[in-house]
Amino acid sequence: MLIAVVGATGAVGQEILAILADRGVPAASVRALASARSTGKELAYAGDTLVVEALGEGSFAGVDVALFSAGAATARRFAPAAVASGAVVIDNSSAFRRDDEVPLVVPEVNAELIAPSGSGSAGNGGAATGRIIANPNCSTIILVTALDPLRRAFGIERIVVSTYQAASGAGAAAMRELSVQTGAVLAGEEPVPAVFAEPCAFNVFSHDTPVDADTGRNVEEQKVTEETRKIFDQPDLRMSVTCIRVPVLRAHAESVNVTLSSPATETQVRDALAAAPGIAVVDNRAANDFPTSLKASGGDEVLVGRIRGDESQERDGDAWHGFELFIAGDQLRKGAALNALQIADLLSG
Ligand code: A2P
Repeated sequence: MLIAVVGATGAVGQEILAILADRGVPAASVRALASARSTGKELAYAGDTLVVEALGEGSFAGVDVALFSAGAATARRFAPAAVASGAVVIDNSSAFRRDDEVPLVVPEVNAELIAPSGSGSAGNGGAATGRIIANPNCSTIILVTALDPLRRAFGIERIVVSTYQAASGAGAAAMRELSVQTGAVLAGEEPVPAVFAEPCAFNVFSHDTPVDADTGRNVEEQKVTEETRKIFDQPDLRMSVTCIRVPVLRAHAESVNVTLSSPATETQVRDALAAAPGIAVVDNRAANDFPTSLKASGGDEVLVGRIRGDESQERDGDAWHGFELFIAGDQLRKGAALNALQIADLLSG
């Protein structure tokens, strides 16, 4: 299988290459593509070297799977060429997520939307080759992975979530900005914001996406709302979302309040979470040991903890209607690269 990594020099592209190398995929099976600025750049890969090629419409000859992590504009411009040459595009940008005919997939939640190549039926995605599958927004992936076991067991009526998002979601340049700015501030210098409008070192600020003048909601909050509804196939799911950046390099944390359709005991909720794929329960009250951004960094699982009934909502004996959780997941891995590769795994069955 020939895999094209579009945006190979970026934060997510680099993580995709690291996972492919860990899985033993040979360099000959990987094509590294980026902008013309990076042509000829050499990327270390599993003891080998990948030479970056400039992305163009002719880049996809022979490619089976094209993993796009180069932003929405690049995806809109070049995904059609990849599809036309028979590749399955798995796009990490927002370009196609809202299209009705494009599946938006988190394998733990809705793998059934993807049929393996050659199986004859292809979910709602059309032909098994030459199509686009969208990888959801990173905060959305982490949220739905943690909540899906509760949705399956008890149903979900309402979600209130506040995020604590890492710099990595804004790309490699944002991660460098956080590191450089932190050093500068510690050296007594003034921070010089460039990628983010606000200083990012030693600061917490509202998400950097544009804010709708009428609703007051930023684009990130709109994405989490719309994508969660699409993935859960609940167009009327009640959602209240606040997205915030924190001075963390690569893992997002989220404070989640969920209202269940049928009340559940704390034990039932813990059991449902503990049995679910893609999740690790980190919830030791005695030791004050709960999910953190650093514990999630570099790992594959979404960490779930601070599991407790919500005292502000109704309860029936020891069954609660509302629960509170604190979750954390690696933005570059489960939030992006790993989820995209899990989708690619579904294609090959
Ligand atoms: P390049 O490094 O050549 O600019 P990040 O999300 O970390 O900022 O990374 C974005 C990725 O998308 C990089 O690999 C970047 O390549 C790539 N990219 C950005 N614009 C284009 C473009 N017009 N064509 C191809 N790749 C692009």
